[in-house]
Amino acid sequence: MTPLLRRLTLAGAVVIGLAVTPFAVSHFDDKEMQQSYRQSWFAMVAMNFGPMASSVKGEIPWNQEMMQGWANDLATLTTLNIMRGFGDDSDKGTTRAKPEIWENKADFESKMNDLKTAAAALQKTTAGGDREAIAADVGAVGKACKACHDEYKSKEYLY
Ligand code: HEC
Repeated sequence: MTPLLRRLTLAGAVVIGLAVTPFAVSHFDDKEMQQSYRQSWFAMVAMNFGPMASSVKGEIPWNQEMMQGWANDLATLTTLNIMRGFGDDSDKGTTRAKPEIWENKADFESKMNDLKTAAAALQKTTAGGDREAIAADVGAVGKACKACHDEYKSKEYLY
């Protein structure tokens, strides 16, 4: 890296650091590592699924290469062990995760598995390029998100 580039990069990092600090609290808090872990994961999931849903609705132009990238990343994210972010001691804190999760762990996990199955199907369909089939599988993933949120995610922070 040239000295100028390094200076610019450092300056950029400082600016970005200041800019994100007020919002970073809910996504990274070193006293609430599991809450941060799961919320960051959901943010990544949403950043890949959101544009796919917008493309299907025609809100943004269809870009097949980008669609494939989002589908791949979404499917990859669902292969992580997200239950590591839902340990027994992580039910309180800065969170919208309802206490019912810890009372119905098996059901919650099975809803996570439904998402994984739907995301894998969407990845495969996206590779085929059939826009109607992709739209149907985007709908199926959306249903998997909603099925879990309806039962286990609060609209407001809980504690
Ligand atoms: C098996 C359950 C489950 C599934 C499936 C699920 N979610 Fe969630 N989601 C949750 C829970 C619980 C929270 C709250 C986490 C917290 O606040 O600690 C959450 C939080 C979120 C958040 C907020 C993250 C934050 O704190 O800023 C977004 C965005 C989100 N989910 C999007 C999605 C999308 C998009 C999908 C589908 C592609 C999805 N979720 C699938 C349970 C689920």
